[in-house]
Amino acid sequence: MRKRQVKKAVIPAAGLGTRFLPATKAIPKEMLPIVDIPTVQYIVQEAVDSGIEEILIITNSNKHCMENHFDRSYELESRLVQSGKTEEYDMICNIANMANIYYVRQKEPKGLGHAILCAKSFIGDEPFAVMLGDDVVENHGGKPALKQLLEVYDDVQASVVGVQKVPEEDISKYGIVEPVNGKISVGRRVQLSSMVEKPKKEEAPGNLAVLGRYVLTPEIFDYLENQEPGAGGEIQLTDSIKKLMISQAVYAYDFEGTRYDVGDKFGFIKATIEYALEREELKASLHKYLKDLVQTLDT
Ligand code: UTP
Repeated sequence: MRKRQVKKAVIPAAGLGTRFLPATKAIPKEMLPIVDIPTVQYIVQEAVDSGIEEILIITNSNKHCMENHFDRSYELESRLVQSGKTEEYDMICNIANMANIYYVRQKEPKGLGHAILCAKSFIGDEPFAVMLGDDVVENHGGKPALKQLLEVYDDVQASVVGVQKVPEEDISKYGIVEPVNGKISVGRRVQLSSMVEKPKKEEAPGNLAVLGRYVLTPEIFDYLENQEPGAGGEIQLTDSIKKLMISQAVYAYDFEGTRYDVGDKFGFIKATIEYALEREELKASLHKYLKDLVQTLDT
């Protein structure tokens, strides 16, 4: 069998961001900055670092600023040149040259599965990656999360979902996977027998949650096209992956790295602090500030 390579990624970013209102009334949550870089730029960087060549961002009518962010900005560029700010000029130009980025609009926010379906003609008959627009993974200098999944795909030539263990109280917020033999037994990879979206913790098949990174075969579109709304009245990607499992193997991979849900207020605050602590220009002063703050909290 000819090995198929994954060259395209889809970043669904057309959700309403209701958990982050009012900030997301006019600003997409994918553009909220973690320190000084918009969330979606971290995700595009992870795709590029994983070897992806073409990226499709699923947007809506409220998300023009994402397109502007990855475009040239001639007025800003010429002002930076005029004022001798070459470092900033290079940084701005580099963003516009990160990758070949395309956009398509999801006309109604009918759910993640529906957003992915909007990518059908861009993807065609190829395997592809999905990276949620509000999930960032800090890999502390190690392999990017998507790259880890792509390596598994390369091996198994079948769909792979990125998972990590979540605390019991968070199970009902995620898609939860069911491994064939009940648990991950070989390395960090396992074949799946089922999957369920946002189960009650007492009904969940475990605590391995799908966290924002997928590699999917194009056959997923056959199921998405006919998918009925599921949890929350939305067209759920999880429900279609579950159907895909009947005709093809689907694997989960417990990826390395710390994942933050930036669409959640607490997740956003944690990401901001952690990413700032990794920055040379901020880490010493933030470290001291946090230590002093903790002392005032203890008293
Ligand atoms: P979320 O469920 O986290 O996004 O979807 P949301 O619907 O914006 O969240 P809240 O609950 O209202 O705060 C995960 C990803 O899928 C995208 C989102 O933009 C996010 O990046 N998404 C979700 C779409 O593109 N379209 C949709 O219809 C739903």
